[in-house]
Amino acid sequence: MKSLNRLRRTLLATAVAAGAMALPFAASAQAPIVIKFSHVVAEQTPKGQGAMKFKELAEKKFPGRVQVQVFPSSQLFGDAKELEALLLGDVQFIAPSLSKFDRYTKKIQVFDLPFMFDNIEAVDRFQAGPSGQALLKSMTNRGLLGLGYWHNGMKQMSSNKDKLTRPEDVKGLKFRIQASDVLEAQFRALDASPQKMAFAEVYQALQTGVVDGQENTWSNIYSQKFHEVQKTIAETNHGVIDYMLVTNAKWWNGLPADIRKGLTEAMAEATAHANKLAADINQTDRKKIADTGKARIQTLSKEDVAAWRKTMAPVWKKFEGDIGRDLIDAAQKSNK
Ligand code: LMR
Repeated sequence: MKSLNRLRRTLLATAVAAGAMALPFAASAQAPIVIKFSHVVAEQTPKGQGAMKFKELAEKKFPGRVQVQVFPSSQLFGDAKELEALLLGDVQFIAPSLSKFDRYTKKIQVFDLPFMFDNIEAVDRFQAGPSGQALLKSMTNRGLLGLGYWHNGMKQMSSNKDKLTRPEDVKGLKFRIQASDVLEAQFRALDASPQKMAFAEVYQALQTGVVDGQENTWSNIYSQKFHEVQKTIAETNHGVIDYMLVTNAKWWNGLPADIRKGLTEAMAEATAHANKLAADINQTDRKKIADTGKARIQTLSKEDVAAWRKTMAPVWKKFEGDIGRDLIDAAQKSNK
């Protein structure tokens, strides 16, 4: 009888211990899925606004089940690290500019070819078409899955010189560029000296004269205060800064199906929101820059633009093999 009681006590103790061990497991099973979304620009930019909208929509769809943490302004990871961090699972969403993927697929360089797109509407048509959509999946063999494109806008050229109208005005100057071989070739074609540099370092490099100039959208120029350390901004519209929203393919495919579906919907809505705001933000920021009177905005004549276009044209030939003629043709067709 005594030994039976002992056995009962032992069984009970074992059951209690097992229950105690199961508790934290049960609690963690209910812990929300935490999604870290890291990016390099300020919150008031199109990308910053898109990320905040995604957080709002995803958390509303899945109260207590999904938590989105947004880290703007390179707070968590800057340009040099964010793609690696995504592949290592340290963040779940990033939206680098299209120029920053050329280590993962050469085809994406089509977006960087100078004067490829007449305006952001043409970029939008290309992205929405079959070639643009195929590019979203072109890096899955490297673990990256594109979920959509977000717009920023057309690039303008700026420098610390008074004259910035013609290609010869940048000859011999040092320019900060994003990590893109096409952009490097573009500045070499201009006889300027390109320097690849992370976005977070640009203001200081311009301020201290490490570089003389840079190329960017109005919203990035204004939110980073580049206009305060540049003399002239030429309205060249010679290229585009747009983004691919990417996730870690393995992580994404491992999510419960209902979460994946809901996040896809939230992402589509956030994309529409950000893309609708992009043109407005850029135009407003252009005006704000003009109002500060700090950097002179130089509008260009048709002849000036033609001269930039002609000087940069050899870049197309140089990258045609890597990008593919079919993709270049498809992109060109979007200019109608
Ligand atoms: C840049 O590095 O200039 C841009 O790509 C930054 C951004 O994300 O818009």
